Amino acid sequence: MYQIVTIPGDGIGPEVTNEAIKVFDAASKKVGFTYQLTETDFGGDRYLKTGEILPDAAIDEFQSADAIYLGAIGHPDVKPGILEKGILLKARFELDLYINLRPVKLYPGVETPIKDKGPKDIDFVIVRENTEGLYSGIGGFLKRGTPDEVAIQQMINTRKGVERCIRYAFEYTKKRNKENKLTICDKRNVLTYAHELWQRTFDEVGEEYPEIEKDHALVDATTMWMVKNPEWFDVIVTCNMFGDIITDLGAMIQGGMGIAASGNLHPGKVGMFEPIHGSAPKYTGENKINPIAAIAASGMMLDHIGESEAAILVENALIDLLASQKIKDFGAGRMGYTTSEVGDMIADAVATS
Ligand code: IPM
Ligand code: MN
Repeated sequence: MYQIVTIPGDGIGPEVTNEAIKVFDAASKKVGFTYQLTETDFGGDRYLKTGEILPDAAIDEFQSADAIYLGAIGHPDVKPGILEKGILLKARFELDLYINLRPVKLYPGVETPIKDKGPKDIDFVIVRENTEGLYSGIGGFLKRGTPDEVAIQQMINTRKGVERCIRYAFEYTKKRNKENKLTICDKRNVLTYAHELWQRTFDEVGEEYPEIEKDHALVDATTMWMVKNPEWFDVIVTCNMFGDIITDLGAMIQGGMGIAASGNLHPGKVGMFEPIHGSAPKYTGENKINPIAAIAASGMMLDHIGESEAAILVENALIDLLASQKIKDFGAGRMGYTTSEVGDMIADAVATS
């Protein structure tokens, strides 16, 4: 029996989590596995009521689960940064979820803003380092609030951290077995220490993968190619900050934030799955938000726990619904269906597949 922990979180997080778990449940019944769900209430409301963000005891419990499902974090009454750092980043760091895996796949029937590009052109995966870089939280102020103020935010790159990420990306590219091409995205022409380490590590680890084609793109050029020639990419590996930025661009070219899903992983350990979108507080409780990204994230969670057959059923149900073009627009309130109706359609498709 799998142990699944949910953190529905803030805003529309609980609504999309409901649909994600609805589909997960349909898949479990279809392929025949059991699971136990533990729901937690970490998020803005709990913080405002109790002052507690994400206690260490919760992290200990997460460690022993098979997967964690996160809806969305971000509350209008909480200063930006507190919940993001205190919940999302804390979970990523404390659980050492060093990979953030973000597929960029345009499904048939979904519109991309890129002229003349279709599903065969937009199908790649971004492997984002998830525990270091500019996200390490090391730094501080000197003479804060004075005209002489200094703010330092360190970018941390360890050989171990860079190497395990790059190694994962090579392994993933090999397993994906599509173009067998891995592109490293960096800024080696300016970050001549940090990204020299990335470059050297990429070259060294790459020697172990002669069958994988190696490519390099500077991050600014990467954003250009993602729009101009997205078909050039198979798998991209990049640092935390650049990965954050280019995956939002990736989400847009695959049809928007309503579709993009991600997994925070440490192979062999608990993983955390989430839609890329935020908590969209203004739509809270309206049953209007698109749950597709959230459902896609539950598909990734199925794959992670080892239920790949169930994961395929969920992806196929998503593909069929999108290809049918019943949903004309993926924006909140413009789908022509409610959040729960979209979840029902996908869950039913999984159940009857
Ligand atoms: C993401 C988000 C987070 C990040 C924020 C909410 C801290 O933008 O998952 O991409 O920057 O990693
Ligand atoms: Mn982001």
